[in-house]
Amino acid sequence: MSKEIKTIGVLTSGGDAPGMNAAIRAVVRKALSNGVKVKGIKRGYLGLLNEEIMDMERQSVSDIIQKGGTLLGTARCPEFRTAEGQARGAEICRKHGIDGLVVIGGDGSYRGAQALARNGINTIGVPGTIDLDIACTEYTIGFDTAINTAMEAIDKVRDTSSSHERCSIIEVMGRNAGYIALWAGVANGAEDILLPEKYDYNEQVLINNIVKSKKSGKTHHIIINAEGIGHSISMAKRIEAATGVETRATILGYLQRGGNPTCKDRFYASIMGAYAADILCQGKSNRVVAYKHGQFVDYDIEEALNMSKGIDEYQFEIFKKLSE
Ligand code: ADP
Ligand code: F6P
Repeated sequence: MSKEIKTIGVLTSGGDAPGMNAAIRAVVRKALSNGVKVKGIKRGYLGLLNEEIMDMERQSVSDIIQKGGTLLGTARCPEFRTAEGQARGAEICRKHGIDGLVVIGGDGSYRGAQALARNGINTIGVPGTIDLDIACTEYTIGFDTAINTAMEAIDKVRDTSSSHERCSIIEVMGRNAGYIALWAGVANGAEDILLPEKYDYNEQVLINNIVKSKKSGKTHHIIINAEGIGHSISMAKRIEAATGVETRATILGYLQRGGNPTCKDRFYASIMGAYAADILCQGKSNRVVAYKHGQFVDYDIEEALNMSKGIDEYQFEIFKKLSE
């Protein structure tokens, strides 16, 4: 028989993502409508260990659905990787009467949630990361906004790149995952994409492509480079020296993590936040919410963390054919 859930907590952890606010709002309001109290925890697991915990009412989440960032703040907390930190986190939850916790974040944050569950605190994870790199789900909160921000920025770079007949290397976020780079590559009609999952560091291939582009009369050559490959500035210098084509690097950086969430991010984050509150209030624990085959579903955290996904080969092949 699962214990009665009277109070739940909510926190955001890891890199922030547009739509996290919509998820927080949904967790708070759905739990309250289920008759369960809600506490907000500031600055992720760091705030939990520092007991930065506040009561949340319906009005606490007014006027945030349209805002980027996270009302609760986020942080990285090395101490939470230790068994002592995790046990202390669970103890603090008990001290504040928190029976269950919604953790909005990525894979790393899920491991923290799993540890809390092992220490007797019910937990539900919600996928919040612009990188789309959580294997169990086809959607993560923030990806849609980030990719649209990147797409608009790349269109602008392309305008000036074409006017000057330059090559542009545009670096997008994604330390370990190339989804932003792949989507931008297709959506922006880029000539090359460098993905952490695929790149073989053979710059000669890029150089040959640029020379071929020039010969075919193209006025620009757009290379989307994922952060995980990086080194865009030095790469631009080498490519310019080898091809004779003026080459510039633009690093989009954190602008991809900010901004007002798109409709999709607000909608999906709202459903996922509410779903997480519902299953937590029902006494479920050690689960993560996901979007799979057009449905909102939940998985056991361990099962979710053991899943793997990579760049879709067919999509990658299509990119290559369309960019020739
Ligand atoms: P994300 O959640 O976006 O993957 P991180 O990997 O930085 O981001 O993880 C966010 C936080 O989650 C970390 O700062 C840490 O507090 C916690 N965390 C990460 N990995 C673990 C782990 N193996 N065990 C417990 N907590 C973890
Ligand atoms: O949130 C995901 C992400 O933006 C990655 O693409 C990036 O590698 C990482 O976070 C950077 O995080 P930070 O610089 O905030 O530590």
